[in-house]
Amino acid sequence: MKKIAVLTSGGDAPGMNAAVRAVVRKAIFEGIEVAGVFNGYQGLIDGKIELLQLGSVGDIIQRGGTMLRSARCPEFTTEEGRERAMEQIRRHAIEGVVVIGGDGSFRGALELSRLGIPVACVPATIDNDINGTDFTIGFDTALNTVIDAIDKIRDTATSHERTFIIEVMGRNAGDLALWAGLAGGAETILIPEERYDMPNILERLQRGTERGKKHSIIIVAEGVMSASELAEKLITEEEVDTRVSVLGHIQRGGSPSARDRVLASQFGARAVESLLKGNIAAAIGMKSHQLVEYPLDDVFAKPADDANEFDKDMYNLSKELSI
Ligand code: ADP
Ligand code: F6P
Repeated sequence: MKKIAVLTSGGDAPGMNAAVRAVVRKAIFEGIEVAGVFNGYQGLIDGKIELLQLGSVGDIIQRGGTMLRSARCPEFTTEEGRERAMEQIRRHAIEGVVVIGGDGSFRGALELSRLGIPVACVPATIDNDINGTDFTIGFDTALNTVIDAIDKIRDTATSHERTFIIEVMGRNAGDLALWAGLAGGAETILIPEERYDMPNILERLQRGTERGKKHSIIIVAEGVMSASELAEKLITEEEVDTRVSVLGHIQRGGSPSARDRVLASQFGARAVESLLKGNIAAAIGMKSHQLVEYPLDDVFAKPADDANEFDKDMYNLSKELSI
């Protein structure tokens, strides 16, 4: 193998830059060239491809976002789009592609491998919703951003004796909401993996009030409903002085945490090794603190928000600790 390509795709995540850096540096260390593809699969179709050097990835390990830019690319979901991408791959003599992104990007990579180009996928999404890995790049940083917001909201919630509903991202997965709720001491956490029950939410609020608690934090994952929808229900069913806070895209930005930088460095380097070993379609991950490499097909063997991957014990603990 003489030349590989690297791209970032889908929703960006803090630590993507650290992963790009690791891919480039590891490949050059192994004596192979690396082409950077700009704007995800769209750039692959349009031929926005440039050779990267050691210096091209200098001073990016600490930066959020992605220097390669990212995109959602509907054209790549079509056969014609992918054939155009393959033409560029042949034109640039690319022999393998490292795809850094979420599960949609992984699906795209799987299609690419079926056209004969080896791929290695690095999980990067704040949603932490990829089967086969305990953690994705960006989750830890986003989690810390959410906790910082909860702590600040808690100050004003206490002063004004209010209930706050904080809406957290995660698409169809509840990991970000659950971890943030537990770490932020939320009274109630609503996640898509567990059915919510309005009377129970009200009962918990009432129990708090009875023992003198004047404020309350409710975390709702966007996959359940919007914070304003929940606020409306609360206000209709009981006159609770409620405020809403939707954290939105601040969860996707910021300098990556040390943990995300390390994970990204490990994943990126391992992806290059995977291609060099001759793997056709691999996913890289971290399972029980071990760096793992597994068939890309396995990622799609069950739904991304599969209940088996969901940490029910952690959910139960969050309930026990917030009585
Ligand atoms: P993420 O990778 O963060 O989950 P998306 O779901 O938007 O983000 O996927 C990123 C891109 O991957 C899409 O815009 C599309 O170009 C490509 N993609 C997603 N699903 C498929 C698919 N089934 N086949 C081919 N390409 C896909
Ligand atoms: O997948 C990452 C994510 O931030 C999800 O949590 C969220 O639902 C979605 O992307 C938002 O996408 P966009 O940036 O396209 O609005």
